[in-house]
Amino acid sequence: MTVDYDPYSDAAMRDPRELYRRMREAGCPHHLPEYGAWALVRYDDVDQASRGEGCIDFSKGALLGQHLLGEPIPHTFMTMNEPERRPWRNILMPFYSRTAIRQEAGRLRALVQELLEPLLAQGSFDVYRDLANRVMCINAGHNLGLPRADAEYLRSLIDEMIMHREPGQKGGSSERNQKAAQELGGYMAAHVNSLRKNPDTAVRQAKALLEAEIDGQRLSDHDLINYFFSLMVTGSETTPMATAGVFYYLGKHPDQKALVVADPAGMAKAAFLETCRFDQPTNMLVRRAAKDFELGGKQIRENDVLLMIYASANRDEARFERAEEFDIRRQRRADLTFGTGPGYCLGANLAEFVGPMMVEEIMTGIGDFELIEDQCERAYGENLAGFNRVPIRFKPPA
Ligand code: HEM
Repeated sequence: MTVDYDPYSDAAMRDPRELYRRMREAGCPHHLPEYGAWALVRYDDVDQASRGEGCIDFSKGALLGQHLLGEPIPHTFMTMNEPERRPWRNILMPFYSRTAIRQEAGRLRALVQELLEPLLAQGSFDVYRDLANRVMCINAGHNLGLPRADAEYLRSLIDEMIMHREPGQKGGSSERNQKAAQELGGYMAAHVNSLRKNPDTAVRQAKALLEAEIDGQRLSDHDLINYFFSLMVTGSETTPMATAGVFYYLGKHPDQKALVVADPAGMAKAAFLETCRFDQPTNMLVRRAAKDFELGGKQIRENDVLLMIYASANRDEARFERAEEFDIRRQRRADLTFGTGPGYCLGANLAEFVGPMMVEEIMTGIGDFELIEDQCERAYGENLAGFNRVPIRFKPPA
């Protein structure tokens, strides 16, 4: 059976899930000869390619546009291969360990409670824009020492840059995307400049990066800008999408919502992780084959483009029972929400803490809710996918 799949087609950009299901049925990687690419849609294929010794070349970028459209590739640890990537990634590892996140738990919960309180009195709010996206941007800004108002402003640029796609648009090349990217880059350049002049003002991750040495060399301005830019962006969209998705899917499944209403602290994590599996926010990241190898019965050649479609792998019927059903009660099996191998998500511990904590705090605050379904919106994009507008209505607490 042939499936007419083009990652840039309007159908795939809007909702690729049916296409993914049909490609999975073929039981092997799906060849895209016009792009010299393979779509890896099965759990085992994404898992094996990601973990296979020396299979993946990270240096050609992580985004579809970098591989297929020649968009620029920033020099960060995300575009380095082992062993070069390790010291670059290690600068940040201490900030994202389980212990580090536990130490930040009180501050993060206080931030959520502070932003949530005025929303509770309103009787309705948008989980993505009014709360979850704000929390993650403010937190990413906090890590870099940015004022809160600036972090909140930057989130609008990130939305413009990553999430805004005109129908038929390929990649992040529109004037709107570019303008936002330049402004965000310009902001980070000014921040680096100011830290260079006043190094004593550097805090947390910014301080660690400013003071880090790799092979006896401090990081260049350019490297710092790339780090700051990436840290602002990677932390800001995925976790809020998954958190907003929790409220969408619970709204659509009242029996499961009742479980979370009855026990927010006990059920929030299961609801968050099931939403990540069922509606993976990182639709796909893209790599190159570093060598010839066989995958799922197909011969992959060195330099072939590999579309790692996590959103499909996480719904693979061969891996998950009733994979196409949303069920927060399911017996959990390891999934590919945060990927695997050398590129494993740096922020997984943060996401796994903050996402469920936001769900718990919201549900504890509102008791129960009704989904305003006709106002929900999904992002239209190739790399990220999910809800970026989920308004809910509830009875304001007395
Ligand atoms: C639900 C939320 C999130 C999801 C679903 C997600 C998913 C992913 C996935 C699938 C990858 C690629 C893994 C691979 O190559 O095998 C990744 C990488 C990454 N994620 Fe996340 N992520 C989330 C939250 C975050 C947060 C909060 C941060 C904050 C710092 C973050 C930072 C990163 C970074 C820096 C990488 C690149 C790691 C590397 O190349 O070494 N992510 N993420």
